[in-house]
Amino acid sequence: MTTLWGGCFQKETDARVRAFQDSLGFDFRLWPYEIAVNRAHARMLVKIGVLTEAEGETILKGLDKIYDDFASGKAEPVGEEDVHSLIEALLVKWAGEVGKKLHTGRSRNDQVATDLRLYLRDEIDAVRGMLREFRLALVELAAEHVETLMPGFTHLQPAQPVTFAHHLLAYYEMFTRDDARFEDCRRRMNVLPLGAGALAGTTFPLDRGFVAEALGFDAISENSMDAVSDRDFVVEFCAAAALVFVHLSRLCEEVILWATPQFGFIELDDAFATGSSMMPQKKNPDVAELCRGKTGRVVGNLAGLLILLKGLPLAYNKDLQEDKPLLFDTADTLKGCLGVFIPMMQKLKVSRERMRDAAHRGFLTATDLAEYLVRKGVPFREAHEAAGEVVVYCLEQGKGLDSLSLDDYRRFSPVIDQDVFESVRLEQALQARRVLGGPAPEAVRERIESLMKFLKY
Ligand code: ARG
Repeated sequence: MTTLWGGCFQKETDARVRAFQDSLGFDFRLWPYEIAVNRAHARMLVKIGVLTEAEGETILKGLDKIYDDFASGKAEPVGEEDVHSLIEALLVKWAGEVGKKLHTGRSRNDQVATDLRLYLRDEIDAVRGMLREFRLALVELAAEHVETLMPGFTHLQPAQPVTFAHHLLAYYEMFTRDDARFEDCRRRMNVLPLGAGALAGTTFPLDRGFVAEALGFDAISENSMDAVSDRDFVVEFCAAAALVFVHLSRLCEEVILWATPQFGFIELDDAFATGSSMMPQKKNPDVAELCRGKTGRVVGNLAGLLILLKGLPLAYNKDLQEDKPLLFDTADTLKGCLGVFIPMMQKLKVSRERMRDAAHRGFLTATDLAEYLVRKGVPFREAHEAAGEVVVYCLEQGKGLDSLSLDDYRRFSPVIDQDVFESVRLEQALQARRVLGGPAPEAVRERIESLMKFLKY
């Protein structure tokens, strides 16, 4: 077994060290990016006269063969330290001695930083595609429930009337900001490190602009030591992913609650729930539970990365190799969860009746009663007090705010009139919340229409 760095070594690497430090087992997945980077570098070396046209051709052909062999599963990723040495070894195998010239003017340090950015660019595009589908699914579900009354909660106690649509669109907003974070991260990440060499560039007059253009980078790194030694772009991706999971886990928690017989707001499609081996009656929301649980891993990966980077001296350190398992796990977990959570949401059965019934319990319009009194001239603090007393009375009498008589109401305030019944009626209380960003069906319907247009085209 050869290495890329044997020249000044008198001994073979200890087998235990080899096994310990090899990264091929996890970085092999970077192979398409490694080949793309190799192609661009080879063409650039021809352009600046370091390689002849013929040498360049031979190298590109060799790279094509390696690509085809990996794409078709013909070649096995074994026997080398990492994806960079693997592909270089194969290149020498297929292209011959000229393959050894490809590493001119570069290092695995700038290669791996370049590969990783290319990989992440694709991951971001894939994740953003899924987030878009998710947001559309939320809006489509919301469109069916603009009038579906449900209790809004604070402290998980019934608070004020909202609709299921309004509740879902709260998540739409969260995932839309998450999407913007990925977009932002992609923009900052799309800078070419190749050319930084190991840390101090190279004496060859590399045409970095050519490589940047060939690989679709918008800019070129300005400092070679920074280019090979920071992974802040990985942190940004993992932080954006962690926030998606923080948001997703909240929705998971609600799905789990809503699917309990006690709430009964939703029923999961059989294809997206699981049973119990012992209890025949069970229908468990495993998908939501697992997504909620995997949030721990993704947040942990972010913390792991930050700790990995903290205190590293410039420039490259092997510690950085540890970024990949954390990053790959984050990206895989994110796509894995969205891939099953989205169809689960699309197939959700919603019980309008159960939501409406729940909205009728818990005195959701007590605030509306207080605001009614304010409109009749009562200072808010006193109105709040009086409405509280009405609620206690309702509890004693086993009545709701809409089933008291006018005489009942008058015991608490002489300014109360027949029109109080309009104010405490749930539908009316909902319609009245027309403030910008509020749950009034008319406003929510308009918002949904404009979101649909924006998401579909
Ligand atoms: N496998 C290494 C990594 O992922 C590639 C760079 C290695 N560079 C080095 N000088 N050992 O970071």
